[in-house]
Amino acid sequence: AERTLVLVKPDGVRHRQIGEVLRRIETKGYDVVALQMLVPTPELLEKHYEEHVGKSFYGVLVEFMMSGPVVAAVVEGEQVIPAFRSLAGATDPIKAAPGSIRGDLARDWGTKVQQNVVHGSDSPESAAREIALWFPSL
Ligand code: GTP
Ligand code: MG
Repeated sequence: AERTLVLVKPDGVRHRQIGEVLRRIETKGYDVVALQMLVPTPELLEKHYEEHVGKSFYGVLVEFMMSGPVVAAVVEGEQVIPAFRSLAGATDPIKAAPGSIRGDLARDWGTKVQQNVVHGSDSPESAAREIALWFPSL
């Protein structure tokens, strides 16, 4: 089965939403197969967000991602990569539909697009790369 990397970002952890995010994943029928909590280093984030290095929001994004612990999970199941993207909703919490994780749970929205509760890999290639980065022992 397919695997994806999910992050509960520092805003989600701060707002006690770890359980709610994992509950939505499990209720949908997906398996959490690896789990850890850590404050990411700038080096890890530079690799994780390599496609965004140099963009205008890169600085605020990295600063936010290091503002507290993050929960990283490997989630497994049939077509879990697109399925989790759909569960998460649109990147901008203002545009994320009610019923989605971002639409329901994002609290620090407004101008702060980076504070959108979760991350999910966007392709099989990204998932493989990101899982190797966050879970080198897998
Ligand atoms: P992820 O699942 O977190 O990768 O979100 P995504 O794939 O929907 O968005 P993308 O990969 O384009 O951007 C990665 C993350 O950078 C987003 O989740 C946001 O946290 C942040 N981000 C993206 N675009 C902007 C922006 O225009 N402004 C700010 N401040 N943050 C942004
Ligand atoms: Mg992305």
